[in-house]
Amino acid sequence: MKTKLFIDKNLTIGKVSNLLFGSFIEHLGRAVYTGIYEPGHPKADKDGFRQDVIDLIKELKVPMVRYPGGNFLSGYNWEDGIGPKENRPVRLDYAWQTIEDNTFGTDEFMRWCKKAEIEPMMAVNLGTGTPKDAGNIVEYCNFPKGTYYSDLRIKNGHKEPYNIKYWCLGNEMDGPWQICHLNAEDYAKKALETAKIMRWVDPSIKLIACGSSNAEIETYPDWDRIVMETLYDHVDYISMHRYYWYEDSLEDFFASYHDMDNFIHTIKSTADFVKAKKRSDKVMKISFDEWNVWYLNKWKPGGWKKAPHILEDHYSLKDALVFSGLLNTLVNNVDRVEIAALAQLVNVIAPIFTKEGGGVFKQTIFYPFYAVSNYGRGVALKAIKTGPKFNSKFGEVNYVSEAVTFNEEKREISVFLVNYAQEKMEVELELRSFGRVEALTHKVMTHDDLEIKNTFDEENVKFVEGELPTVKNDVATLELGPLSYHVYRFKY
Ligand code: AHR
Repeated sequence: MKTKLFIDKNLTIGKVSNLLFGSFIEHLGRAVYTGIYEPGHPKADKDGFRQDVIDLIKELKVPMVRYPGGNFLSGYNWEDGIGPKENRPVRLDYAWQTIEDNTFGTDEFMRWCKKAEIEPMMAVNLGTGTPKDAGNIVEYCNFPKGTYYSDLRIKNGHKEPYNIKYWCLGNEMDGPWQICHLNAEDYAKKALETAKIMRWVDPSIKLIACGSSNAEIETYPDWDRIVMETLYDHVDYISMHRYYWYEDSLEDFFASYHDMDNFIHTIKSTADFVKAKKRSDKVMKISFDEWNVWYLNKWKPGGWKKAPHILEDHYSLKDALVFSGLLNTLVNNVDRVEIAALAQLVNVIAPIFTKEGGGVFKQTIFYPFYAVSNYGRGVALKAIKTGPKFNSKFGEVNYVSEAVTFNEEKREISVFLVNYAQEKMEVELELRSFGRVEALTHKVMTHDDLEIKNTFDEENVKFVEGELPTVKNDVATLELGPLSYHVYRFKY
């Protein structure tokens, strides 16, 4: 089989935003406790932050982390997590049916962000929380001094305001599973009043409204239209969330990247419809702040324990191939998707997996994220593609998923390719507009066994060096093995 990709330096999609490589830590399972925070662990610092985990997060070049949820958020009182630890209450978390002892809260998170060199993306509770609670946390975090909450922050040992810029107005409020779920009109009203208060406290903040939780929920895309009709002038981003999992058809699972693209196009069109209706000049940006492969049909409640082993999906090569396609789709939509958050970062549906008191390993999905985050910086290009397709529940889909970026400063081109075919694929890559091109590196991720996983003891799925392609008459000829992921870098 053969696929042709025509790349032209002038066919730009947009600059790849640094925030495309964000991630997410929720008070859920072992994401916080025994994930990023484990006092007494041999690799933990004096604050209890695991350095081995921070080192891997730095490898992934994660610029921003969304916190504290997630479904957890909609029942969370942020004031439970500040002040002397011995006074913090132990609570029931209704969302995941676990025990939250609040030994980690806003101040610990901010300290961790500083250490991990991460920008926080905070979320306010619009389930059980009120607009005033949201104003109070902005005051606690961002107001300099001289008021109840800003002085409380100072009393708790944090003289300087945190100046947190990005704030989510609730989480998945369209979902009937959400604590105090609302319909679109009621959410829009509550989010609007909350946004007004938060901006009065700090006019410089950026706000993200809840968009649809997935493309299958009945209220999609009316939810997004109604929310944007009310909030268009008051928020900076509309959020999107989407998870995929294997059920019984490889084709359907492999087609996820195509479905995610359609989902983004619908939200863009909905936003542009509202823009036209409002005669507005503003282009609404997207914050795709939860995405991943997640076997969500398999999760079980936490049994009212602290930090239970829940949502600890163990990813295979098959999952990593789908994951790589999703990442390509995000890059191919950087004209509108300015923020994205891989859900999540440690232990809970995550690229990094820890053992309590023990080591850490890289899941299969670690590698594609590492590759795009490290080499996919610069400008994304639209490839014109012709090639064979397969049928799926999402329609006809190309066997090859691609993303292409170039970095004018370094004079480098990066090409990220997934071959979803069970046979070899030849790819003809036309690079004429770059002038003389030379292949620099080729990394491959594949295995005979699609179900193979990594463990604490064995790294079965990782990058290995591949053959460098030949470049002749400005065309590179690439050989992709069956069911494989490739990262090619060229110099021009
Ligand atoms: O990331 C896991 C969960 O998925 C989040 O808590 C929720 O927002 C979504 O449904």
